[in-house]
Amino acid sequence: MTAKKRVAILISGRGSNMRSLVEAARAPGYPAEIVIVVSNRPDAPGLAWAKEQGIPTLGLDHGHYESREHFEGQLHAVLTASRVDIVALAGFMRLLTPDFVGKWLNRMINIHPSLLPAFKGLKTHERVLAAGVRIAGCTVHLVRPAMDEGPILAQAAVPVFDGDTPDMLAARILKAEHQIYPQALALFASDQIKIDGESIRISGSINQELTLFSPPL
Ligand code: GRF
Repeated sequence: MTAKKRVAILISGRGSNMRSLVEAARAPGYPAEIVIVVSNRPDAPGLAWAKEQGIPTLGLDHGHYESREHFEGQLHAVLTASRVDIVALAGFMRLLTPDFVGKWLNRMINIHPSLLPAFKGLKTHERVLAAGVRIAGCTVHLVRPAMDEGPILAQAAVPVFDGDTPDMLAARILKAEHQIYPQALALFASDQIKIDGESIRISGSINQELTLFSPPL
């Protein structure tokens, strides 16, 4: 068996997606292991949970750095020292500079609670409801310098119901996020994808339907 990919998860808060990755990675056959969880907010609840699980954690308070570049320089040093292969952003609420993204190009993934390229950015669920769309969802993609852009690894469609509030929709989508992120990371870590311009081609034995995945509600 090839060596498991070494994954760092970057969070800023609750960390429920991080948790889904950590739990999935416990399976013996999973192609990735979580070697460190880093938060730019040292008091993030997700960081405390990861620590309880015995995972190496680091609180790297961005407010303590004189610039974004200094913060990212330290972050990059930590990731390199931990011999990280893949960076998984999971509710990491800091914009990353093109320089940092370039250092981790095609080695960094993110989850966003919309069917990209629709509804990039913040306050996604409010905007989805205001737009009146009937199908929402979530996307796992490779990170590019522009926010919420990059080749798509996996998506899940989630219905919008009459009477939904942003919180109700967010909760329904979050369930789907917890299903696709571990699958997308496994796909990415298993070297069964090819990046073709802005698209991702899936090869090998992994189910190609993953990218059209709609989880049961
Ligand atoms: C998720 O909805 C994720 O898609 C977005 O931020 C939220 C983070 O939630 N990027 P959690 O911290 O993983 O619970």
